[in-house]
Amino acid sequence: MSDTVGKVIRCRAAILWELKSKMKIEEIEVAVPVKDQIRVKIIYNALCHSDLHVIDGSLKTRLPIILGHEATGIVESVGDEVKAFKTGDVVIPLYQPQCRKCAACQHGDTNLCTSLSFSNEGSHFTCRGKQVFPFMGLGTFSEYAVIREHMLVKIDPRAPLDKACLAGCGLATGYGAAVNTAQIRRGERVAVIGLGGVGLSAIQGAKNAGASAIYAIDINSEKFDSARKMGATHCVNPRDVPKDGKFGSWFIKNFGAVDKSLECIGNVQCMKDAVEIVERGWGRAVMVGIAPDGATLSFNPGHLTIGKTITGSIFGGWKSIDDIPMLVEEMRKGKIEVDPLITHRFDLEKVDEAVELLKNGKSIRSVISLSKL
Ligand code: APR
Ligand code: ZN
Repeated sequence: MSDTVGKVIRCRAAILWELKSKMKIEEIEVAVPVKDQIRVKIIYNALCHSDLHVIDGSLKTRLPIILGHEATGIVESVGDEVKAFKTGDVVIPLYQPQCRKCAACQHGDTNLCTSLSFSNEGSHFTCRGKQVFPFMGLGTFSEYAVIREHMLVKIDPRAPLDKACLAGCGLATGYGAAVNTAQIRRGERVAVIGLGGVGLSAIQGAKNAGASAIYAIDINSEKFDSARKMGATHCVNPRDVPKDGKFGSWFIKNFGAVDKSLECIGNVQCMKDAVEIVERGWGRAVMVGIAPDGATLSFNPGHLTIGKTITGSIFGGWKSIDDIPMLVEEMRKGKIEVDPLITHRFDLEKVDEAVELLKNGKSIRSVISLSKL
């Protein structure tokens, strides 16, 4: 790699020029990293539903943009202020940073580092003289990306990079929401609504935490096989609710209330259902999915009076730099399973096929190959 150090790199990337359109594979320029910046050769990137939220306009961002935030890569070169990384380090980019300096980083109860300034930052990508923005400060659907030091973590170089990329978002988000935010304990009854990469990882978290019953809920019954593989004990399709019935009361009548529920879609109605179906007194409903910009959630405050806890979770509650290498390690040892989540693999040219599959509920995670190792 040394022949690229100190020079602008020309490489391929997938650019979204307009909303609701296909990404285009373009040749771009990636700037030389300065100060605390690190230039990373991206090896794999899995497609997540948050990328789709940008394409369909429900998550507002600037255009043109390079999507991607669930990746693994290798450090190509570093800026002059970088201390903890060197060329050749194997890394996972982090959209949820950990600066260790802000009030949140110093607080034991949150992972929401407030150094998150990427929305106001410029870009290190250009295409035909035009600036192209990196999604969430990363933009990893590119063969190279420039990322700040506190948004990157080193992992064990022996880790399988095509799988470890899932620890950069979906797996960490779902698994952590179950073990950290829902705080599922041995013997508890759990419901997970939405069985994509995030929901299935929440199921695995619930299973590893010792849940006695795990209800996997989705309107797409094709997801149930994967849910069972991850540890679901019951699969429930809300389309089976009688026309005049409501999901919450129907669920409780048939299965009973649960100790913990996790909404892994970003659908406000499903969030209300998650509140309905938890036990009075101690039930906890965790909102994991990201609702569209401008959405509001309303529910009867009586749910709070009778002791339910309603909370949200970002990046599974993990302190990203401290915790993600541990997740990758558990993955490497087989304590956390990733294979059932990876349904497709594509080269970058085929990234739009991956988008179509995810949109149509035909895939869980498509892993896209970028640079060769
Ligand atoms: N009721 C039940 N299930 C639903 C409903 C609904 N009304 N609407 C969608 N689903 C299911 C889909 O069938 C799909 O299986 O939710 C699942 C969502 O999975 P993915 O599209 O694969 O999404 P994922 O990548 O897991 O992300 C889920 O978490 O991080 C956030 O931004 C992300 O909001 C998104 C959510
Ligand atoms: Zn994601």
